[in-house]
Amino acid sequence: MYISYSSILTLTLLAFTVSAKKDNHSNGKHNPKGRAFQRILQVWFENQDFADVSAVPGFNDLVKEGILLDNFNAITHPSEPNYVAAGGGSNFGITNDDYYNIPANVSTIYDLLENKGLTWKVYQEDIPSVGYTGYKAGQYVRKHNPAIIFDSVGLNATRLQNIVGGNTNRATQTEQHKEMNIKPYAHHINLDDQFQKDVTSGDLPAWMFYTPNMLNDGHDTNASYAGNWLASFYEKTLKSNPNFLKETLVLITFDENHSKTTARNRVWSLLLGAVPKKLKGTTDSTFYTHYSTLNSVERNWDLGNLGRGDTNKTESNVFKFAEKALHYKNVDISIADAPWNLEFLPGMMTGKSYNQTHAAV
Ligand SMILES: *[C@@H]1O[C@H](CO)[C@@H](O)[C@H](O)[C@H]1NC(C)=O
Ligand SMILES: *[C@@H]1O[C@H](CO)[C@@H](O)[C@H](O)[C@H]1NC(C)=O
Ligand SMILES: *[C@@H]1O[C@H](CO)[C@@H](O)[C@H](O)[C@H]1NC(C)=O
Ligand SMILES: *[C@@H]1O[C@H](CO)[C@@H](O)[C@H](O)[C@H]1NC(C)=O
Ligand SMILES: *[C@@H]1O[C@H](CO)[C@@H](O)[C@H](O)[C@H]1NC(C)=O
Ligand SMILES: *[C@@H]1O[C@H](CO)[C@@H](O)[C@H](O)[C@H]1NC(C)=O
Ligand SMILES: *[C@@H]1O[C@H](CO)[C@@H](O)[C@H](O)[C@H]1NC(C)=O
Repeated sequence: MYISYSSILTLTLLAFTVSAKKDNHSNGKHNPKGRAFQRILQVWFENQDFADVSAVPGFNDLVKEGILLDNFNAITHPSEPNYVAAGGGSNFGITNDDYYNIPANVSTIYDLLENKGLTWKVYQEDIPSVGYTGYKAGQYVRKHNPAIIFDSVGLNATRLQNIVGGNTNRATQTEQHKEMNIKPYAHHINLDDQFQKDVTSGDLPAWMFYTPNMLNDGHDTNASYAGNWLASFYEKTLKSNPNFLKETLVLITFDENHSKTTARNRVWSLLLGAVPKKLKGTTDSTFYTHYSTLNSVERNWDLGNLGRGDTNKTESNVFKFAEKALHYKNVDISIADAPWNLEFLPGMMTGKSYNQTHAAV
């Protein structure tokens, strides 16, 4: 059969157009399809108790839009070991918020994602430059960054390009700031709001992590303040591209409970966006931890695993709505039997921190 040059060209162009429509890409890379979701965004807040968050409209108003997870648990206290656990499947013996560098030979979720050709980005509000490795700058803190603490990211110039800015739009002092005695913010940021840019363009990584700054995440403020921020982030940013929530699984969660050692480490969590419509407004009481997110992600794209908390059956139930699609069987741990999750186990980083006072390594 004779096929003309121009028809080959047309077919090629057609095939290209169809595949370009199928999935979104980031940095020119197409992300393989997932079993249960096409991409995931985690937004982590700080240090609030479940009951306090439930009473705040900014959080509670979103419950009708998603699946409330009322048995989701942090790993330990304080902040840093939880963020490290989100990237590495362990707290590696970290029991404080000091400056750590986890050796580059330690595998992470970033390795697993990249091995399968999946893209990722960590959006950090107020980070002063792309890939900044310092301890603190204005309202940005390294301890709330789930990637930079791993030398496989922090010492790799290519991967550092994935650590980018978030919303920086809060320079003026509001009435609420005055009431809470928050000083106008002096630190000058000239980084773009890369998250808004990516949402607008639809050129989005498969795996996204968003850390609001120390005011917006509730750390230096309270649950009401964080709720106001979330309401605005939801309306103005997440909904700014109508396809974003349709195609993206969004997990709103907290790094840890406020009540430290006096109560179980349960954190208010909500799955939004690309969840089955009929489950919107429901509550799921499956026992989850931050390792559940890792396990769900690993199974969604057949990434393999890290062989740490992510493969501990007790700690890594996958999101129930996706249990079948992910070919996994969750274990049943009721709220009453749930462990407190206050791990202070020694590990490879025990005694390995130091305090850095200057900005760059
Ligand atoms: C977190 O601490 C508070 C105590 O202030 C407690 O009411 C709450 O139940 C704790 N954790 C949970 C299970 O949310
Ligand atoms: C990983 O690197 C650290 C520090 O560079 C080293 O002490 C450790 O032995 C290495 N581990 C493995 C399994 O290679
Ligand atoms: C740095 O990261 C890039 C992108 O993931 C990777 O291709 C490269 O091998 C890494 N370099 C080192 C020295 O690990
Ligand atoms: C948060 O702080 C503001 C200002 O001090 C106060 O009006 C509000 O009631 C507080 N909210 C919570 C949940 O503590
Ligand atoms: C990604 O791109 C495709 C094709 O252009 C489009 O259909 C889809 O809605 C986009 N997603 C987002 C979040 O913009
Ligand atoms: C698995 O998790 C449970 C519950 O946190 C814990 O008690 C157990 O020690 C963990 N197992 C391993 C091998 O770490
Ligand atoms: C780091 O500084 C904090 C605050 O000054 C202190 O509590 C901590 O012990 C220091 N850690 C190290 C490893 O020096």
